[in-house]
Amino acid sequence: MALARAFYKFLKKRKSLMKRFLLLTEVGKKLVPEYRYSWPHMDWYNDKAFNRYLKQFDELGHFNTDRRHMVYQLMRLIEGVSGDTVECGSLEGAGSYLIHLMNERSGKHARWHHIFDSFEGLSSPEKGDGSHWEQGDLSVSMQDVGSNMGAFDRYSLHKGWIPERFPDVEDKQFAFVHIDVDLFQPTFDAIEFFYPRVNPGGIILCDDYGSSLCPGATRAINQYLASKPEKMLYMTCGSGFMIKGQETAAQLS
Ligand SMILES: C[S@@+](CC[C@H](N)C(=O)[O-])C[C@H]1O[C@@H](n2cnc3c(N)ncnc32)[C@H](O)[C@@H]1O
Repeated sequence: MALARAFYKFLKKRKSLMKRFLLLTEVGKKLVPEYRYSWPHMDWYNDKAFNRYLKQFDELGHFNTDRRHMVYQLMRLIEGVSGDTVECGSLEGAGSYLIHLMNERSGKHARWHHIFDSFEGLSSPEKGDGSHWEQGDLSVSMQDVGSNMGAFDRYSLHKGWIPERFPDVEDKQFAFVHIDVDLFQPTFDAIEFFYPRVNPGGIILCDDYGSSLCPGATRAINQYLASKPEKMLYMTCGSGFMIKGQETAAQLS
């Protein structure tokens, strides 16, 4: 701890961001050699409105900030696409809050946002889901999610184990689907149900895609998309997305 404090003081004295960053990466590369650093000169770090949102969910500087930023930017990409929005797996509602916030910004479409969650945490992991997760992890109550959605009112909470509440929206079309349930079976059930209901140009984003903590989620998406022209694009922040109707080339092999 004393060593960390001394290092912090040493870094603080360096005025140049680049110098501080290079020192940090030198130490970091020794401690966690598999970690990949990226340039710290990002305009979005100074996006006031976005930082306000992060602060509201106590996520400023959190390791999810780049994924949140991607949701924010992808929501801009569906401006011309009609349809509602969905999040499968809400935790405390930070993702859904951002999606609803962006829905309100849409000049063209009055969208409704649908949140599907057990509100009892994860279902039971299978063997292929790895060893990180346990049943009941990441449980947040429906009341807490409702209160975190604040004054928003164009959303519904569908409480139940995926896919049992999907029939609630079987007649709807969608512009944006966020799948974030960590495990194989609910991820597969979600893409299987929503893919045919996403309008051309709409987006399916899977937060867990490409994460070695969630091998089942990646497998579920790849298995479902194997016969489809669209494939998931791996994002460097973790997660992956596809655009409905946009054919995608294979990965390097
Ligand atoms: C990683 S968290 C979601 C994080 C959230 N999307 C965010 O942006 O902060 C996973 C969520 O999936 C829910 N969940 C996992 N398995 C589920 C299942 N089989 N049915 C319904 N909800 C499930 C959990 O209750 C939890 O809220």
